[in-house]
Amino acid sequence: MNQPAPTYAIDVQKLNKHFGDKHVVDDVSLQVARGEIFGFLGPNGSGKTTSIRLMCGLLTPDSGTGTCLGYDIVRESAQIKRNVGYMTQRFSYWDDLTIRENLDFVARIYEMPNRREAVERSLESLGLQSRANQLTGALSGGWKQRLALAACMLHEPQLLLLDEPTAGVDPTARRDFWEELHRLAARGISVLVSTHYMDEAERCHKLAYIAYGKLLAQGTAREVIESQNLATWTIYGEHLSKLSEQLRKTPGVDQTVVFGSALHVSGIEHATLEAAVKQAIQGTTLRAERIETGLEDVFIYLMSHSTDNYGAPS
Ligand SMILES: Nc1ncnc2c1ncn2[C@@H]1O[C@H](COP(=O)(O)OP(=O)(O)O)[C@@H](O)[C@H]1O
Ligand SMILES: [Mg+2]
Repeated sequence: MNQPAPTYAIDVQKLNKHFGDKHVVDDVSLQVARGEIFGFLGPNGSGKTTSIRLMCGLLTPDSGTGTCLGYDIVRESAQIKRNVGYMTQRFSYWDDLTIRENLDFVARIYEMPNRREAVERSLESLGLQSRANQLTGALSGGWKQRLALAACMLHEPQLLLLDEPTAGVDPTARRDFWEELHRLAARGISVLVSTHYMDEAERCHKLAYIAYGKLLAQGTAREVIESQNLATWTIYGEHLSKLSEQLRKTPGVDQTVVFGSALHVSGIEHATLEAAVKQAIQGTTLRAERIETGLEDVFIYLMSHSTDNYGAPS
């Protein structure tokens, strides 16, 4: 047990996929280490679901190679499916069955040996026993989602692929769900999870940001932030949206975003940006200070830049 092989739960290189003339996944390479929670972020339609399907062998790439749990994504998709838990974007269950009956039903579909034992184990490991005999239709969104997680873990997969698992779930249930993911990761289970929520991005060990099929940044939150070399200032005061428009036309300012009562102003030319901010607040009651660039600033920057390039004449 010195060297558990393979090192990566997912290791793919230069995956490409077209649908018609649309290049939906464009040279995507990524690695997810064992026991890591890897967040997959990006706007709707950017290729997250398609990438997940490529990585677990449900779709064949036009080009590219890779392994999932050490199995070849093109030639060994049957083994991958047996060892991966996949929670699709719109998971489903039977409203008029109890939680236990739903899990039992899934276990039957997969013809699992020791079905009863597997169901009890998954009820226990996800803290579902107290609700096991309740009808699923009457449960809150958070419990339904916990059921969906239990269902995709019945066969004790080593890798979970979770496609927007918390969309439409309330904040408390989302927090519980993430605590659960961290417990699983601590047990050595790897997790690839796509999400829109910024607070969830910050709870991942590593992140990738994808837009229009292209992976634009990858690494820890800090690495993703540093990769863009943005300086950010925050301005407090009145009439920020007007100021925002004005600053956006100023040299040195690459991006302005209003966050409630503060305006974030970012740019890659740090000195020019500073001059622009100081000039803008001079002789006013506005206050400005340099802050650490946040993940959200960077994601907005990445998204707007990829939009700019999309369809632009080259
Ligand atoms: N089976 C398919 N046939 C044709 N186009 C598809 C298919 N699946 C996805 N697409 C298109 O590929 C793009 C990426 O979709 P998807 O991977 O679902 O993105 P995301 O999960 O990031 O929202 C979208 O433009 C979508 O319409
Ligand atoms: Mg999707």
